[in-house]
Amino acid sequence: MTTIKDALTQQGCDASLIDVIQRILSASKDISFRLQQGALAGVLGSTEDENVQGETQKKLDVISNDLLKDALKQSPYVHGIASEEEDFAVPGNDGGQYLVTYDPLDGSSNIDINVSVGTIFSIMNTTGNSDLGEDFLQAGSNQVAAGYVLYGPSSILVITTGQGVSMWTLDHTIGEYVLTNAKVQIPEQTKEFAINMSNQRFWAEPVQNYVADLLAGEEGPIGKRFNMRWVAAMVAEVHRILTRGGIFMYPWDSREPNKPGKLRLMYEGNPMAFLVEQAGGLCCTDKERMLDVQPTEIHQRVPVFLGSKEEVERAASYHNS
Ligand code: F6P
Ligand code: MN
Repeated sequence: MTTIKDALTQQGCDASLIDVIQRILSASKDISFRLQQGALAGVLGSTEDENVQGETQKKLDVISNDLLKDALKQSPYVHGIASEEEDFAVPGNDGGQYLVTYDPLDGSSNIDINVSVGTIFSIMNTTGNSDLGEDFLQAGSNQVAAGYVLYGPSSILVITTGQGVSMWTLDHTIGEYVLTNAKVQIPEQTKEFAINMSNQRFWAEPVQNYVADLLAGEEGPIGKRFNMRWVAAMVAEVHRILTRGGIFMYPWDSREPNKPGKLRLMYEGNPMAFLVEQAGGLCCTDKERMLDVQPTEIHQRVPVFLGSKEEVERAASYHNS
């Protein structure tokens, strides 16, 4: 059986990067277990050992953040951590080489209704900048690894170190991720889109026009009938797209005109862009390739268009014209 360690070694990852990834994965197994316990974890307490009193009373996204943070802070190779759940970058070890960013529980509004959520992560090298917050402000093209764990009917790890994308399914009987797809490839064309249609009246004109053309079906300029899906967890939408293609959009909208979008560059946009590109798809903002965006702020938000190459190119063309 191929282990994650074997696969990462074959991809040329050194022991320190493998250590960091394995710490994220061990936290993810804990998160997976707690999610499966669901309400039992909150009402009855966890059946696992508890080291923090009252921990199970906390919201699961806070617990997930703490599990990841504690696991990563213990690594000698982690220089710093940035999380959607932390106001500021968290220092790790001075001698550490890696910066880790993560969204501990993406789509967390789905927890209460027993629908898929996930952990998204991204790893970069430190630049040596003595200001940790600024150290993180690197374009996504600097990522050395990225991935997510989708907690659905099964818990599935999807990961890239820049040499394609692989999928691994958590086998609860042995507590290990088992390789289930060694080379994930997104179909170039699609007939499926994902966007929160309830925001339609707030979108900018290019998005209005593009989605109108999708909805026009066979009679419209695109000449195809499209289906629509919306799970309301980016991690699940990206998983569907990596599996069968599609386009996912979370564009800027005028509900909060001063925010460039809802999703976060460092915890959502960049890691998903790395995965999607490595699987043959595309990911961009309304202006440029996601991985080329130069961040100015750790919690920066961005518009996101990602998925099957032909469809993302089409969406981008509405913005260029
Ligand atoms: O993390 C933000 C997020 O939960 C994404 O996972 C998801 O795609 C989006 O927000 C859902 O947004 P909305 O509430 O508009 O459906
Ligand atoms: Mn999220």
